[in-house]
This record gives sequence, C-alpha cells and structure tokens, in this order.
Amino acid sequence: MSEIDWDALRAAARSAMVKAYVPYSKFPVGAAALTTTGEVISGCNVENASYGLTLCAECSLVSALTMAQAGKLVAFTCVDGAGNILMPCGRCRQLLSEHAAAGMILETVSGFKTMQEVLPDAFGPSDLIER
Ligand code: THU
Repeated sequence: MSEIDWDALRAAARSAMVKAYVPYSKFPVGAAALTTTGEVISGCNVENASYGLTLCAECSLVSALTMAQAGKLVAFTCVDGAGNILMPCGRCRQLLSEHAAAGMILETVSGFKTMQEVLPDAFGPSDLIER
C-alpha cells in the first residue's frame, strides 16, 4: 500500500477521463491501475448509439491491460467527470476481479478496499473447473 503512488494513479485516471466518448450520458469516467509489471494502465468509457453496448472505463482498462501484456492489477482507482472517486459498477467489479493480483487494493468512495471486500465470494475461473 505505502509504495503505491495514489496521487499519480488518480492523475492517470483523470487524464483518461477527459478522453471519454460520452455523447449520450455526458458522464465521463476514467480508470487507472498499477500492474504487477509496474506499468500504469488506464481506460475511459466509450458509449454507443445502441446504448446498451456502452463500454465502461474499466472495460477499456482491462482491454488495455491485455494488449499491453502488463500482468495483473495491483492498485485501482476510478474517477468521474469532476475528478472525484467513483465506485466501479457491479459488472466492472466482476471484470476487474478476473484480472486482480492477490491483495489488489481499490480506492473507493468509502476508503481503500480489497477486491474481496468490494465483490465478496466472487464467481471466478476456479468455479468453472471445480463445479
Ligand atoms: N460507467 C463507467 O464507465 N464505469 C462505471 O463503473 C460506472 C459507469 C459509465 C458508463 C456510462 O458511459 C456512464 O458511466 C453513465 O452510466
């Protein structure tokens, strides 16, 4: 925790947020994460005229993580259009969970939390094997 530069991570999320494509909601979101390779990966929301196809900022971040082959997520933050901390939606918690490093920390509206705290008893890859 102490070695994580949360200010830098928030700044990266804000830089991503200004790139958001949000002609419909006008609700830009930016997300950024430190990864196990030491890289900072970010993403913004990308909306669509077919509203339900909207890609959340976390979706963009996970795609960028995969393309960069940057390992797993160590620390994550997400901001709204005002630059304030935003809680990832439920679907995005599931998305993040699949790519979380052990002990991943999220900056949330109610303080720093583990993935387990924001998505208890998550369904994950092991369920596909064990059940
Ligand atoms: N949004 C995100 O990008 N991430 C979230 O975790 C919450 C919601 C976006 C989707 C949509 O473009 C806009 O915020 C309003 O819902």
